[in-house]
Amino acid sequence: MKSSLQQELIASIRNIADYPKPGIMFRDITTLLGNPRAFRRAIDELVHPFAGTKIDKVAGVEARGFIMGGAMAHQMSAGFVPIRKKGKLPHDTVRIAYSLEYGVDEMEMHRDAIKPGEKVILVDDLIATGGTAEGATKLLQQMGADIVAACFIIDLPELGGRRKIEALGVKVLTLIEFD
Ligand code: PRP
Ligand code: ADE
Repeated sequence: MKSSLQQELIASIRNIADYPKPGIMFRDITTLLGNPRAFRRAIDELVHPFAGTKIDKVAGVEARGFIMGGAMAHQMSAGFVPIRKKGKLPHDTVRIAYSLEYGVDEMEMHRDAIKPGEKVILVDDLIATGGTAEGATKLLQQMGADIVAACFIIDLPELGGRRKIEALGVKVLTLIEFD
């Protein structure tokens, strides 16, 4: 049984068949972001579990995690840490290779972005195979982050990403699922 929030979020997302490759049903959140009520409700729901918890940093994964993460960090009075595709950050970085639903890539973050023991929330728009979130989680853990949770609007449960992140000892929170 889906809640009214879940129904609203699902209705606000555009589905595009065979993008970026044949066989992929792309869940396009730009329509959710362009809908003021859906965007606010999604961010409110993502930060709600952390009311009363001091969060030092929200780490967002390029590119769509930047949008969610910036809004969440503002609402939680936390700092924001960008985890970027390789070659985009100007200072000393830590880097990790990762695989995702339709390819392989490398991501990195600034070495000084997190102090050991800081409480961090990892955020992205969607978890599919979990390869991206697994890479980001490992980078943050290497830097000594205390990852309070990894948050996503969308889970594609058939691709098993949640289990990959939970196996790293990190709690996973998602708002809606698609087959
Ligand atoms: C999408 C999405 C997640 C990732 C999830 O990003 O925003 O970051 O895929 O897939 P996974 O769980 O299988 O790793 P994408 O790699 O398309 O990059 P973009 O945000 O720069 O478009
Ligand atoms: N990232 C990985 N799989 C995706 C999908 N099906 N839709 C949108 N982003 C994705």
